[in-house]
Amino acid sequence: MEEAKKTMLSGIKPSGDLTLGSYLGAIKNWAARAEEYDCYYFMADLHAITVRQNPADLRRRTLEQLAQYIACGLDPEKNTLFIQSHVHQHAELGWVLNCYAMFGELSRMTQFKDKSAKNADNINGGLFTYPCLMAADILLYQPDYVPVGDDQRQHVELCHAIARRFNGVYGDVFKLPEPYIPKVGARIMSLSDPTSKMSKSEEENGGTVLLMDPPETIARLFKRAVTDSETFVHYDPAQKPGVSNLMTIYSAVTGKSYDEIEAEFAGQGYGVFKPAVGEAVIETLRPIREEASRLMKDKAYLEGVYRAGAEKAGHIAEKTLRKVYKKVGFVAR
Ligand code: TYM
Repeated sequence: MEEAKKTMLSGIKPSGDLTLGSYLGAIKNWAARAEEYDCYYFMADLHAITVRQNPADLRRRTLEQLAQYIACGLDPEKNTLFIQSHVHQHAELGWVLNCYAMFGELSRMTQFKDKSAKNADNINGGLFTYPCLMAADILLYQPDYVPVGDDQRQHVELCHAIARRFNGVYGDVFKLPEPYIPKVGARIMSLSDPTSKMSKSEEENGGTVLLMDPPETIARLFKRAVTDSETFVHYDPAQKPGVSNLMTIYSAVTGKSYDEIEAEFAGQGYGVFKPAVGEAVIETLRPIREEASRLMKDKAYLEGVYRAGAEKAGHIAEKTLRKVYKKVGFVAR
């Protein structure tokens, strides 16, 4: 008998345009595994509103993100692609899990601390309980793996803890998920400040490469990337964070090891190395940008994809939610 496929699930907030970081840390890994796993990927619009969004921009970005997922190689025939708010069970299980997560553990989340510092005038309840909704996103589908970048590891670990606590009370309801983090590319740093993460919200300072950036922009960003006062290409994240970040990006897009990259650029300065990394990124992103632009013009196709995705996801999510409602003691309708 054929063994049941393992399941993978992940999501991205459409709170900004997708970046090279989201691509190398997450999506690239998703696309590579569509054949082996049963896969669920969504646009986390419920999560996006924990930070104030312009409604028109949020709508546009959610659809663009879907087009970009597909353009990155997520075939909608093989992957279930959906919009989080279309599957109401996420919010419902999120509420239940709120009641199984502790104030102390939520207070320790690095992302909560960072985001509260950056949005001091809007430290809302959603920002604080965000990991409970994320745990619901995951547990509804009983995935084996959650492919994410390194910054989401803590949230997946908390999801694991919440699931374990719930199972401890009610028996084996949830499968315990594991993060699936790439060896190279799990933490892409800003090109202008290699000590901070490349992020969607910091694109104006020249440190962020967007998936949809035209080649000229990408070339310029890499030429200006911050390095150090030495001139040789060597991997040492502590002493040479800028160069090491560029090596990571180059390695992730070309598949070359750090040793191979050092050998390739031996005796050549950053004036050769930086544009070469830019060029490799341009060639990786070119087909994605072109395909995503084409798909964005086909709204009917995108609508068909997200509707079918929500239908399939909703069916599975409902099964889990029913089970949870029964376990906690809600009267069946
Ligand atoms: P988000 O939207 O901040 O980021 C999306 C994914 O991209 C990865 N990533 C990076 N990886 C490497 N280097 C970077 N500079 C970089 N920037 C972003 C992130 O690790 C993530 O995998 N809470 C999640 C979204 C979410 C989710 C989920 C994920 C909601 N529900 C359920 C998995 C399962 C988030 O804010 O990711």
